[in-house]
Amino acid sequence: MAQDQDVSRREFVKAAGAVTAVAAAIPAVYGAPAVQKVRAANDQVQYGIIGTGSRGTYLLKHLKGIDNGRCVAVCDINPENLKHGFDTIGNNPKEFKDYRELLAAKDVDAVIVTTPLFVHFPITKDALMAGKHVFCEKCLVFKPEEVHALRALHAEHPKQVLQTGLQRRYSYFYQTVKQMVDKGILGDVYYMHAQWHRNMINEPSSLWTMKPGGEKNIANWRVYRSMSGGLTAELTSHQVDVADWMFGSGPEFVTGFGSLDVLKDGRDVYDNVQLTYRYPKGRQLTYSSISTNQFLPYFNCSRAQMGECIMGTDGTIEITVGFDDPHCIAWWYREPPKKAAESAKAGEKKKEPFVAGATMVTGGGANGPIPIMTSDLNFTGKESFIDKEVKFAKRWLTSKGVMLQEEQGNPVDVELESFFDCCRTGQTPKANMEVGMADSVAVILSNMAMDEGRKVYFNEIEKMGKPGSVPVKKG
Ligand SMILES: NC(=O)c1ccc[n+]([C@@H]2O[C@H](COP(=O)([O-])OP(=O)(O)OC[C@H]3O[C@@H](n4cnc5c(N)ncnc54)[C@H](O)[C@@H]3O)[C@@H](O)[C@H]2O)c1
Repeated sequence: MAQDQDVSRREFVKAAGAVTAVAAAIPAVYGAPAVQKVRAANDQVQYGIIGTGSRGTYLLKHLKGIDNGRCVAVCDINPENLKHGFDTIGNNPKEFKDYRELLAAKDVDAVIVTTPLFVHFPITKDALMAGKHVFCEKCLVFKPEEVHALRALHAEHPKQVLQTGLQRRYSYFYQTVKQMVDKGILGDVYYMHAQWHRNMINEPSSLWTMKPGGEKNIANWRVYRSMSGGLTAELTSHQVDVADWMFGSGPEFVTGFGSLDVLKDGRDVYDNVQLTYRYPKGRQLTYSSISTNQFLPYFNCSRAQMGECIMGTDGTIEITVGFDDPHCIAWWYREPPKKAAESAKAGEKKKEPFVAGATMVTGGGANGPIPIMTSDLNFTGKESFIDKEVKFAKRWLTSKGVMLQEEQGNPVDVELESFFDCCRTGQTPKANMEVGMADSVAVILSNMAMDEGRKVYFNEIEKMGKPGSVPVKKG
């Protein structure tokens, strides 16, 4: 954190007040440490998981610590991965090779779909028709015809929960930032930038490494267009969803450039993706995903790979969901106040520091950063003298970058717990069908914009994948 843009303790607390006031409105579910309650078996949603590869097993590790759901079935076509999933959850669930047999099991109330993208829709469709609630990893669907078919099917099964695996929607930090945007704390937000850059040369990921058998080997599904949406589906999908959420609408059109420059091992998905999304009211998201370098110019360069930058007329947020460790953080920077900017434009006089008695802003640049606090650092007015001083100290150390604030509940745990709650209560998930569908549409149309080298309008989806429509070009 920049040492020359100092914030006095008094002024820091004043500035952070705007954020903590917003943060106080976020449900307290994140505020308490994860204390495991022991639930009666009939109070748990009984679920099966379909696809116990990398993501499925990762979710099972998290599901082990979640007590409002109980795994009763695991399914995978690959015996090794099936065993891995079975061993990971460790409570002796039934094992299936064919997902249709799992769907026929009466004791399964809900399913978690963590298969490759090209089989999300057929499995989700069969699961809804079998009466199950569904949590399906992003992207919800792969092809335009599936967009229309799943919308129609969901409308026929309104009592069944359909949630998408977009975990940023379940992050305390992202929710706080959304409220900051909505309450105008950042002014008018016209621009967002997001990136997910990785160095696949020095740190290849096994998920993106070609295995023997090429396209015939389903383990290579990510690198073939016949089964995958490439970087756009696997990475961009999370971040374009953040832009939709922050801007409060989907894009009007997308344009972009994609190429396969370095990882030329027979794959046919791009390893370089550059996209621009235009939203209503003159707003835009620029997006980049490259495979040769993981540098992230946010958070004083203390993190790598991915993040989003939300820029308003009064301030900027840098935010990332991170990984299990380190996970989500968000930093807030303020713009020079209107008055100072106006007088500078007129060339009237040199800018004054805009906070009296503080050394916050002495130049024309952005102020900051102010880390966004988790709700346990909110002042309630009820703390003892010592507790209050401890909070002051923690806030102060956080503002100096000495202490890092971290999410108290991993958004992945929160999304899964919330899914089971929705199954019990009938509530609509935060990452509901429409959120997941908008995200899938963005992926389909972004790839189309890059493949066809043109501006693709989002309303074009309504004409695609319907009888008599022009088929989507693949490759
Ligand atoms: N939300 C996130 O942050 C996140 C992160 C990683 C992956 N994902 C998503 O999770 C999904 C799975 O990705 P992954 O990395 O685990 O892939 P993976 O290849 O490691 O695992 C997929 C598993 O599904 C199995 N499978 C394939 N077809 C099947 C079928 N018909 N029936 C049963 N099992 C089948 C495969 O054998 C494999 O074990 C993808 O859609 C991916 O985008 C989401």
